[in-house]
Amino acid sequence: MSIADAVRVLPQRTMRSLFISLSHRQWLARLAVRSPLTRPVVARFVAGETLEEALPALAALKLAGLRTTVDVLGESVSSPELASAAADRYVATLPALASRGLDANVSVKLTQMGLEIGRDLCRANVMRILDAARAVDGFVRFDMEDHTQTDATLAIWREAHEAYPQTGVVIQAALRRSSADVERILAAGGRVRLCKGAYDEPRSVAYVNKSTVDANYAKMMERLLKSGSYHALATHDPKLIARAIAIAEREGIGADRFEFQMLYGVRRDLQRMLAGRGYTVRIYVPYGHEWYPYFMRRLAERPANVGFMLRAIVKEEGRRVRGH
Ligand code: FDA
Repeated sequence: MSIADAVRVLPQRTMRSLFISLSHRQWLARLAVRSPLTRPVVARFVAGETLEEALPALAALKLAGLRTTVDVLGESVSSPELASAAADRYVATLPALASRGLDANVSVKLTQMGLEIGRDLCRANVMRILDAARAVDGFVRFDMEDHTQTDATLAIWREAHEAYPQTGVVIQAALRRSSADVERILAAGGRVRLCKGAYDEPRSVAYVNKSTVDANYAKMMERLLKSGSYHALATHDPKLIARAIAIAEREGIGADRFEFQMLYGVRRDLQRMLAGRGYTVRIYVPYGHEWYPYFMRRLAERPANVGFMLRAIVKEEGRRVRGH
């Protein structure tokens, strides 16, 4: 049995846990980042290592009628200097996007801004990004990381939202607490990006059964659509997307009252089909050198991606050997 076949027969949950646990391994990150074999596969999900490299992808998405939000890759930084350098990259990215007529819309992880080192450090970095966003009338979305960061992320989002209203935060359908969080965000006049949740969470705080996560997503999605404010539905799940459209049609909620969001390189057919039907579709476009944990979460989401990656590596290695 090939590795790709073995990957296919392993239970999806085992695969997911395995890849999420590998996403934290620094030695594997160093190996993967250095290897030329991973590049072509990573390129499907990551638009480039620098903003210059990502710009053509952003321009092509715009041309295809898609909106974008840019993630400068990185998370869980280990020093205040690295956190500040990450904030600098966002501060430079926002005007660079605006000056090229691209969406000045960014997605930020707070552990990249130093949340695990200290709240004050993180807050100071976030405020600098908000200033850069304000200068170009941009939008800042706070990504949600694992459940140990939820309270702090929501608290910093609240402060950010008071300082600059064009901000939003992410809610994960996998977490048991999320319905209550949605109500608190709505009461504060906030904007939600609803996703299923990309982390391997314990049963004590999360639903582990996929159908329960999907049902919780559907319930919160309906609440958000009917809330009267503008939210983002981040999913590639055709059933949930069809359900959102059905709710919107039934309730007379115009296509300009919400948006769909999808990841760069995932279900490009669906992205274009929805945009062609007049829905706003925003693509989450990551760029940067620190792509490893992000990439591993994409593998965890879909075991078929692992087979795809292994086949690409074997093909590339065969080409390399034949070339010598
Ligand atoms: P589901 O996993 O059920 O997939 C539905 C279908 O989509 C699959 O059958 C497959 O066809 C396709 N698909 C999904 N993932 C794929 C992949 N990696 N490769 C290829 N095909 C794939 N999470 C989080 O915890 N915090 C966050 O801040 C964010 N932010 C975020 C922003 C945006 C714009 C998106 C789209 C997603 C996130 N996520 C996230 C990730 C999210 O939580 C979730 O892990 C993925 O979106 C996959 O879940 P789906 O809703 O697509 O459904």
